Amino acid sequence: MKIGIGSDHAGFELKEYLKESLKKEGYEIIDYGPEIKKVVDYPDYAEKVAKGILSKEIEFGILICGTGIGMDIVANKFKGVRAARCCTTYDAVLARQHNDANVLTLGGRLIGKGLALEIVKEFLSTTFTKGRHLRRVNKIKKIENG
Ligand code: RB5
Repeated sequence: MKIGIGSDHAGFELKEYLKESLKKEGYEIIDYGPEIKKVVDYPDYAEKVAKGILSKEIEFGILICGTGIGMDIVANKFKGVRAARCCTTYDAVLARQHNDANVLTLGGRLIGKGLALEIVKEFLSTTFTKGRHLRRVNKIKKIENG
């Protein structure tokens, strides 16, 4: 499973930690940057990861900024991206089971590394429940298509 990851400066350390941890777990990670910690604008990196989802270069994306909110707003501008900002493992489970979220956004200034890794693991290992939730996700797609 190929996972894309990106951050801004406020999420950089957490990006590096999650990238290394997930590689050890056997995931293939594409790092969309930044390569070094420098002040950058979160929309640029949300766009890169969202485009990775849309081109099917990656199956899931992880985006980290200070709060996860900016990344979430930008990623959800892309048709076909369902980004969920998760602060708990339960958020992550439900974002996958009910919403078929394909991008996880995290707040690097809000949560610690250990919790972030647990959230990511739940997100990546939980499957979409389908059933009535598929009907609802299909309604999202209908709205996206105007
Ligand atoms: C950067 O200072 C901060 O605004 C950004 O990381 C993010 O939290 C925006 O939503």
